[in-house]
Amino acid sequence: MRNFLLLLVALLIINIGFANDSDWGKTGHRATAEIAENHLNKKAKQAIDDLLNGYGLAFVANYADDIKSDEEYREFGPWHYVNIAPEAKEYRLEEASEDGDLVQAIRKCVEVLKDKNTTRDQKQFYLKMLVHFVGDLHQPFHTGHSEDKGGNDIQVRWFNEGSNIHRVWDSDMINFYQMSYTELALNTKDLSKTQIKSIASGKLLDWVYESRAMAEDLYSGVENGEKLGYSYMYEHMPTVLNQLQKGGIRLAKILNDIYS
Ligand code: ADE
Ligand code: ZN
Ligand code: ZN
Repeated sequence: MRNFLLLLVALLIINIGFANDSDWGKTGHRATAEIAENHLNKKAKQAIDDLLNGYGLAFVANYADDIKSDEEYREFGPWHYVNIAPEAKEYRLEEASEDGDLVQAIRKCVEVLKDKNTTRDQKQFYLKMLVHFVGDLHQPFHTGHSEDKGGNDIQVRWFNEGSNIHRVWDSDMINFYQMSYTELALNTKDLSKTQIKSIASGKLLDWVYESRAMAEDLYSGVENGEKLGYSYMYEHMPTVLNQLQKGGIRLAKILNDIYS
């Protein structure tokens, strides 16, 4: 019995130690992908259907997280976020991480998908990565500060469990709702054509700055060690849903442009 308890404690410690942040969480990424799927035009839908052998965007939305555990794909780790110095006015490639970041990642994916000379395998890989990264871009803490790893080092209690503010936004709030990705995708706002057009307008960096401004706001609304629960969730869940929807609309815009 004692050995069993020791083993249990060891397993718990190992699990806590290796707990991996998985971005919007599987459900959030799938919801954004599903929303994008619903905004694809015919040409894009056909090209993507062909490239993904009939699987939908939601099916591949977590690939970029799934490969993180594989040494072979280690180089893609920094591609999931972009940390622009708080004092910097804008993103400058000359000052950006040489290991890559979310901005360089999305640009690379688009480049490979547009290139007539890349192989089908390359296109398939970078499409899967793109679906994921546009989701990450809309989780504000993926555009947060480097010194706290985008909020990963800001410890909070989520109801009665240990968490951090990055994880609260990646998955704790979404998981609390216990909705499937299709339910989340269905529970988005009914938007007019004009509203959709407005969300889809702008360039990649405009979307980065929008997310970064949101992160700044959220940083000022939380303190290390704070206990967060239902009131934080009720205050911020509409923003989470809105971000999932914006991510979906913008992912569809990128894909529709590629295949136009
Ligand atoms: N995940 C791991 N490191 C991160 C960082 N610096 N910013 C955002 N997300 C991260
Ligand atoms: Zn994350
Ligand atoms: Zn990610």
